Amino acid sequence: MQRSVALRAKLKTPKPKHRPDQSEYTLADFCHAVTYHQIRCGKNKGIKINMFKDINDSPYFGAPNIQALQKNRDDQVEDLRDLPGAVIHARTFSVDDPEAIGWQRIKDVVAKEGIVTFRGADESVISKARKELAEFDPSEHYWDIFMADAATIRDVCSHVASMPLPAGLVRMADDGITAKLARQVQHFLNEHGVSPFSIPALLGQLFDAKLVVLMNSNDQIAAAGFAAMTHNRHSPFAGTAWVGLIAVDPALRGMGLGKQVDAICNLAAVDELGASATMEFVARDNIPSRAMLEGCGLRHVEGKSVAMFSRSADRITR
Ligand SMILES: CC(C)(COP(=O)(O)OP(=O)(O)OC[C@H]1O[C@@H](n2cnc3c(N)ncnc32)[C@H](O)[C@@H]1OP(=O)(O)O)[C@@H](O)C(=O)NCCC(=O)NCCS
Repeated sequence: MQRSVALRAKLKTPKPKHRPDQSEYTLADFCHAVTYHQIRCGKNKGIKINMFKDINDSPYFGAPNIQALQKNRDDQVEDLRDLPGAVIHARTFSVDDPEAIGWQRIKDVVAKEGIVTFRGADESVISKARKELAEFDPSEHYWDIFMADAATIRDVCSHVASMPLPAGLVRMADDGITAKLARQVQHFLNEHGVSPFSIPALLGQLFDAKLVVLMNSNDQIAAAGFAAMTHNRHSPFAGTAWVGLIAVDPALRGMGLGKQVDAICNLAAVDELGASATMEFVARDNIPSRAMLEGCGLRHVEGKSVAMFSRSADRITR
């Protein structure tokens, strides 16, 4: 705690008026400090996300290896933002042009973190990856890519997004999307098999992003989703937003809520984040998710996938 007090003094941020519990205090304090630091130093420059590592809460969530991935990505945002071949993704190191980024760097990542993801990989990338990464004897995990252009998203999703929500549900307003809620979102996603991002990433403090949360009448999360600009100007997907981290409370599934959250996220991507297209990833056997994406106007892109090469058999996320 001493460090956070010292840091606040250094950044001249006001002391919170009350301190209802440890987690609220530290998470709010953390995000306040990051935001202040961004304003002061230029966006994201020099942020040390682990500045509160000596107190109970951290912006990361999940198993130690997942938290390490989140931290490594968050720390690298500035580097990845303009690096040819790199994707700004808040979990595994992701590459959309392996030749541009170089196979040696990819091998270094696998040696250090045990995992790398190829986004938009075709057969030639996959066979090259098999050859280049053979020394790690990796497991391969795949997701299909679905995409739509902005006009299609507006055409299909406007109607779905604006349908009345089931009784008792409300969409959290932007000013309600706090660090405390982002922590709840991490729990919610994790519970439903979706590996979350760090709190600053979810709050759009590291790269342009929008978190969508629907709450039930008991102030619990009913559904969540996320849209983000994860491709830099060198990317074959430049201008395309990634939409993901979609999950619905199991008690509320099959009622159209997944499609509605997904539609809201896709619309936010094009209307608020300025995307010219959107993309989502889905496992071949995730039938509800595939139907949800198609219901939002996205279509399967043949011949390209998301390929994760990992030293572990764990897929990390659905
Ligand atoms: C995927 C998920 C978000 C869908 O939420 P949902 O609220 O049940 O979805 P919806 O009710 O909006 O249904 C979306 C489409 O899937 C279909 N669907 C829903 N459940 C289904 C099921 N069990 N089997 C087959 N189709 C199903 C619906 O009929 C609908 O298609 P339609 O518009 O053509 O009728 C939800 O199942 C979930 O949270 N899963 C766990 C997390 C996850 O897998 N996230 C996606 C990661 S890519």
